[in-house]
Amino acid sequence: MTAEYKVLGDVAVITLAAPPVNALGYATRVGITEGLFRASMDARIKAVVIIGAGNAFSGGSDIKEFGTPKALQEPNLLSVILALEASTKPVVAAIHSLCMGGGLELAMGCHYRIAAPGASIALPEVKLGLLPGAGGTQRLPRVLGVENALNMIVSGEPVKSEVLASLPGQKLFDKLAPSPGSLLDQAIDFARSVVTREGELPRVRKLPCGHPQGDAYFQFARNTVAAVSVNYPAPLQCVNAVEAATKMTFDDGMAEERRIFTALMSTPESASLRHSFMAQRAASRIPDVPDDTPQRPVTSVGVVGAGTMGAGIAMNFLNAGIPVKLLEMKQEALDRGIASIRQNFEAWISRRRLKEHEYEQRIALLSATLDYEDLKDADLVIEAVFEDLDVKEQVFKALDRVAKPGAILATNTSTLDVDKIAAFTSRPQDVVGMHFFSPAQVMKLLEVVRGRETAKDVLATVMALAKRINKTAVVSGVCDGFIGNRMIEQYTRQAGFLLDEGATPQQVDRAIEKFGFAMGPFRMSDLAGNDIGWAIRKRRAVERPAMKYSRTADKLCELGRLGQKTGAGWYDYRPGKRDAIPSPVVERMLEKCRAELGGPVRPISDEEIVQRLVYALVNEGARILEEGIASRAGDIDMVYLAGYGFPAWRGGPMHYANEVGLFNVAEAMKRFATNPRDDATFWEPAPLLRKCVADGQQFG
Ligand code: NAI
Repeated sequence: MTAEYKVLGDVAVITLAAPPVNALGYATRVGITEGLFRASMDARIKAVVIIGAGNAFSGGSDIKEFGTPKALQEPNLLSVILALEASTKPVVAAIHSLCMGGGLELAMGCHYRIAAPGASIALPEVKLGLLPGAGGTQRLPRVLGVENALNMIVSGEPVKSEVLASLPGQKLFDKLAPSPGSLLDQAIDFARSVVTREGELPRVRKLPCGHPQGDAYFQFARNTVAAVSVNYPAPLQCVNAVEAATKMTFDDGMAEERRIFTALMSTPESASLRHSFMAQRAASRIPDVPDDTPQRPVTSVGVVGAGTMGAGIAMNFLNAGIPVKLLEMKQEALDRGIASIRQNFEAWISRRRLKEHEYEQRIALLSATLDYEDLKDADLVIEAVFEDLDVKEQVFKALDRVAKPGAILATNTSTLDVDKIAAFTSRPQDVVGMHFFSPAQVMKLLEVVRGRETAKDVLATVMALAKRINKTAVVSGVCDGFIGNRMIEQYTRQAGFLLDEGATPQQVDRAIEKFGFAMGPFRMSDLAGNDIGWAIRKRRAVERPAMKYSRTADKLCELGRLGQKTGAGWYDYRPGKRDAIPSPVVERMLEKCRAELGGPVRPISDEEIVQRLVYALVNEGARILEEGIASRAGDIDMVYLAGYGFPAWRGGPMHYANEVGLFNVAEAMKRFATNPRDDATFWEPAPLLRKCVADGQQFG
């Protein structure tokens, strides 16, 4: 049962019971409708209370039904809401914990609403490129006023019930219960108290809706929203729908909301946002690691190496209230690491992201040591020392000696073989990669690298821990660069070829930034340090001498232009500033490199730039998928959305390729392969891509 019916004297209580958030899937909708029917037929019943079991009133629509006919199957949400509204016996929604999307729309269809304090109230549909499609845009302005409602609908952000209840003139809540524990009793008492009220039952649809400034206000709202939602059609449409609530009859407004909802549902932006929402949820599950896999407790963490990454990694656990012990080789390094943690926290305080007392609490959880013995009680130790296999060997042998049985030993290596690292210990089943991205205290992505022998409970524990520290975790198999960096290498290689063929760094950056990337490859490289790629290319020259790449980036490094840190890279930088200024030195260098190469130089279109960069990601992504390094195309998309600034409204490289059409993508690759300046072998469409094209399938 996903909605339970109970009679308490003269009140029927319908309890939504579809864990974890009482989503309004088909079975729940049937349960509500049946409950309402039973109550209507039972002469003893004078009123109905709807409440949610567990930790929610309702989180809204059932995402499993998203975009499927089941979502519209009768009784659909609109019909359920109409039935509640039409009930001749008063219906009271009793709201606690979480009331979002369809859950809030359902509550607004009831005659009365009583809320517990602390409940999160939201219409978050805009985050999926949609608007609330079951009356949310028509009813919320009627109960909260146009401006409050529009803010909630356009932002999708939750607001606490007590905040809404305190808004002057609000009609969303008829009463605020003193505590969540007393909510049901309060709701029943309230229901009994309204039974005797004279006159028609209150219905939100009957409330007036307008704004004193009328058109002028909506024009202002449109301008404001347009400025912050470039590339996203939904927020502007939310304004239109709310405006309709002020100008049309309720029923016409509902029809307008439905029309807009249907149109938004078919936009590529909404498809991408819905894809990434689902992909994020899917990524947290590992196909052969069941959800009920037991987890190891993690209540204390050791971090070895307090450099750039170690310090940032430590902050994540401190933020989550987990004590961290930092280990270094020398006191100076330890002091530097702790100073950098303090500095980062202090910067948050000055930006009002952190309160002074929170800072004190976090710092109190941090301790430091030079002695491995002090890590003997840690549940998890993360290594972030130099990227050198010999150093990693020393560290893992030391950890193997001291760590308690069952402790998880993780490496933050970005390029080394996790299986080799695991083999330095007598417990490879406890070893896993936890690849954070820099700055580790900010970046959302965490690649969890599964070694050949990594135990399932270790994986389950690390995936759950990732949620605790607010990371988007994606599992990767062991390979050079894992998912993200292995793909970015191909993208960067294309960027190099484009320069040699005639493009400028600023043209390449501009084109891909216009496509939506947060930062183009050259600005990005200047930020990270051009020497990182330089070191990788030197290694590649030994490991894969046949691999073709542009030498231009090496020449740049040879000039000492290592990026922002040296004040010059692909661009010039003014002291202390980060604005990238096109550089005449680089221009001359490019001309010289092209002359030495001797091939033709041609104008290159932005379209070609975008296709070559993005399809390079796609082709390598297809190989990664085929090799089982990633379990799903959506996992690859999550890596790019959470870690590489891929535009969210395009849904990640694999989703984007599906949208473009894999046939078209493969045809473009074949065309690129005919370019003698490029790497024809790379552009051979990956076998998985070829197979998808042949079968008319998509990446999945
Ligand atoms: P870093 O050079 O800033 O820090 C390394 C720290 O490890 C230094 O403080 C050093 O004193 C310490 N260390 C070296 N040997 C040690 C030992 N035997 N015992 C204890 N401490 C020792 O390096 P960074 O950038 O923090 O990188 C660390 C690891 O993280 C590397 O494996 C790197 O590949 C990986 N990584 C780096 C990223 C980056 O953007 N910097 C991103 C993701 C991973």
